Amino acid sequence: MKIDILTLFPEMFTPVTEASMLGRAAQKGILEFRLHDIRDYTQDKHNRTDDYPFGGGGGMVQMADPIFRTLEDIGARGKRFLYMSPRGKVLDQEMLQELAQEEELVILCGHYEGVDQRVLDAWNAEEVSIGDYILTGGELPAMVLIDAVARLIPGVLGNADSAMDESVYSGLLEHPQYTQPRVYRDMPVPEVLLSGNHRKIHLWKFRESLELTAKRRPDLLLQYAEGDPDLDREEQKILDSTLQAFGICSKMRR
Ligand SMILES: C[S@@+](CC[C@H](N)C(=O)[O-])C[C@H]1O[C@@H](n2cnc3c(N)ncnc32)[C@H](O)[C@@H]1O
Repeated sequence: MKIDILTLFPEMFTPVTEASMLGRAAQKGILEFRLHDIRDYTQDKHNRTDDYPFGGGGGMVQMADPIFRTLEDIGARGKRFLYMSPRGKVLDQEMLQELAQEEELVILCGHYEGVDQRVLDAWNAEEVSIGDYILTGGELPAMVLIDAVARLIPGVLGNADSAMDESVYSGLLEHPQYTQPRVYRDMPVPEVLLSGNHRKIHLWKFRESLELTAKRRPDLLLQYAEGDPDLDREEQKILDSTLQAFGICSKMRR
């Protein structure tokens, strides 16, 4: 996947795009990051990229022209164009899976009070939020999106299964995890995980996942139950008893 990023602060990206999983994916050629400094496209002798908003109001607004010029220069017409914005649709795993199918993405990071609306209208921008709070700029949200989408691209993660086991991706929150030593400061690892009995371990993890989801995200558990998951008899029994124990009422079981 090729990702063009339009920003006033390209230097913010390199520690993320060149390190760890994203860095390795870029080295393997699975991901390509192209950073574009919007300031390079100003025609103003002071390299200004923002101005006061028409109609008054606090703060500054990013001017359309440098952004238009950047988009034209990189050939963004016709490509999927995302604007990181608190007004956008809130990013979730479903949206990420859909974005992961794209071969190219163009991402605009805003600053100050945001960008001139004419950029968004003329370039058919999709506004994407990472949550109901306000950040200073779109760089961190863009990095969140890129990291999360990259995990879904084949070859980026070492183990092909690991993305599917994660919280939320599977529809449930993940069960607790333990590693060495077996006893740490008088706290033992649950016995079942040391039993070597794969079926028992699987059912323990499934039950823990369900209970955690029921406690923290009953909305997710209800969605999971109503999605008619492909469960065997024992798993179905565990699901039914969890729903009952936590008073979560699935319309399929009423
Ligand atoms: C201070 S914010 C501007 C907020 C804008 N005035 C508003 O009320 O919608 C500056 C930039 O940060 C980015 N940003 C801030 N919060 C965000 C969020 N929750 N999700 C995505 N981008 C965000 C956007 O690119 C935005 O243009």
